[in-house]
Amino acid sequence: MKTKTVPTQPFTDQRPGTSGLRKKVSHFQQEHYLENFVQAIFDTQSDLGGGTLVLGGDGRYHNRTAIQVILKMAAANCLSEVIVGQGGLLSTPAASCVIRKYKTQGGIILSASHNPGGPDADFGIKFNAPNGGPAPEGMTEAIYKRTLEMQQYQISEAPNVDLESIGNHSVGDMLVRVIDPVDDYAELMQELFDFDAIHSMFNAGTFRMHFDAMHAITGPYASRILEQMLGAPQGTVINGTPLEDFGGGHPDPNLAHAHEIVELTTGFEPVDFAAASDGDGDRNMVLGKNFYVNPSDSLAIMAANAHHLPGYRMGIAGIARSMPTSQAADRVAEAMGIECYETPTGWKFFGNLLDAGKITICGEESFGTGSDHVREKDGLWAVLFWLNLLAFKRQSVRKIVEGHWRRFGRNYYTRYDYEGIDTNDANGLMEHLQNSLASLPGTEFGQFVIQYADNFSYTDPVDGSLSQNQGIRIGFSNGSRMVFRLSGTGTEGATLRLYLELFEPDPAKQLQQTSDVIAPLVAIAQEVAEIRQRTGRDKPSVIT
Ligand code: G1P
Ligand code: ZN
Repeated sequence: MKTKTVPTQPFTDQRPGTSGLRKKVSHFQQEHYLENFVQAIFDTQSDLGGGTLVLGGDGRYHNRTAIQVILKMAAANCLSEVIVGQGGLLSTPAASCVIRKYKTQGGIILSASHNPGGPDADFGIKFNAPNGGPAPEGMTEAIYKRTLEMQQYQISEAPNVDLESIGNHSVGDMLVRVIDPVDDYAELMQELFDFDAIHSMFNAGTFRMHFDAMHAITGPYASRILEQMLGAPQGTVINGTPLEDFGGGHPDPNLAHAHEIVELTTGFEPVDFAAASDGDGDRNMVLGKNFYVNPSDSLAIMAANAHHLPGYRMGIAGIARSMPTSQAADRVAEAMGIECYETPTGWKFFGNLLDAGKITICGEESFGTGSDHVREKDGLWAVLFWLNLLAFKRQSVRKIVEGHWRRFGRNYYTRYDYEGIDTNDANGLMEHLQNSLASLPGTEFGQFVIQYADNFSYTDPVDGSLSQNQGIRIGFSNGSRMVFRLSGTGTEGATLRLYLELFEPDPAKQLQQTSDVIAPLVAIAQEVAEIRQRTGRDKPSVIT
């Protein structure tokens, strides 16, 4: 096999964000851009030499091209094997599953998650470590530093690999194993959940559900597991064919972008249960009949009920939630006498806790929940968890959630996103908040009295690493809280996220509209952060 050494120059903008390197497709199409980043992965992850890499993506535009480039670079960099999903497809949780199952030296996942796809939209690449989880910060920083000194990369001149045919192929001396992207993942789900109980629930014929794959990666996974293995009627999965541009949609399972599935839970003959997942299959939104389950509540409910399901029968070791996620999970942990860890935003911070056995269940407010079965959040896993819970409890989604609130109290919760604002304005707002931190405690706004204000920093309890500047927290004496942080996944301008939370222990007051309950906090946030004056926005672009 002939390999080439290609001279190149460093790009200065290849620092991975919350979840890998994300840019516009056209940015990735610049000569050497992808190659430089991939070479930096190979240069810094020395175990890959002679080792095995897992490779796949969410099927978005540029996926196939990038896969062929990476295969050729892997061969030139002396990897012995690459396991790649058929058609270049692997959902993020399935990639994590495959990395772990075959004890490989890591994986490269091509995805920009829930960001739109297509020639004018977004692309992304991230490296996952041998534990199956997103590269921790030390690793992403090392990759970034390497990109800054990149002078050349290695690539084979071998022809493209036929990604459609399952089986063994080669690029030079390197073995390329094209696998069915669903098999290993489906097998794992069977170990965790009571498939017989779910199957009987579908068989009884009175339970109706839909799953919206949003034309993204979970289509094949959901069709196989829900329709073929669990006996849900054909047509249960909607928008099930992965498309390079996700059908022009925004594959983000929230109330704004997944309105098609939301509509099936309301109006005439609403279904009992509905769910959606995102571009790369790690997020989930769960709905009942005329009922939306807030992701923070979903996390708390899963933690409180896991012991009813086969994979978690021994109980859970602990829970972790990202800092902006509501404190509903903390109340469950307290009642169960286990630890609840508060980590910075991003799944990579759960990895050490999971590996050390300190937690079993973890999640984020951004429609992400997961467990120690893989090292990524897992959309379809969450859907199967809920299905198993529904089969076990024989109650509606609404009954389960309201029962949870009565027992643990309700954390009313909402998130405001101000997208595409000017980066300087956004930084100015955060700086203004930072400068106000010392003076805020004690300030009164009606019955809301600020108890603490800080900029969240986290010391990893396993490896001692410190992550600073993770968002401004303002806590009130009545248990309410607001959090301000800037997104680390956007590709245009800045996105300000404002997270608002109010605790209500009294069951008589738990059935109000979230927007009504949260309104006073919105006004306080405006006053404290000067959002309107500093961003020119008088309302958020997305509310979840
Ligand atoms: C967002 C979410 C975060 C999630 C990440 C990747 O990051 O807020 O919880 O881990 O996407 O899915 P952000 O844009 O806020 O940095
Ligand atoms: Zn995702």
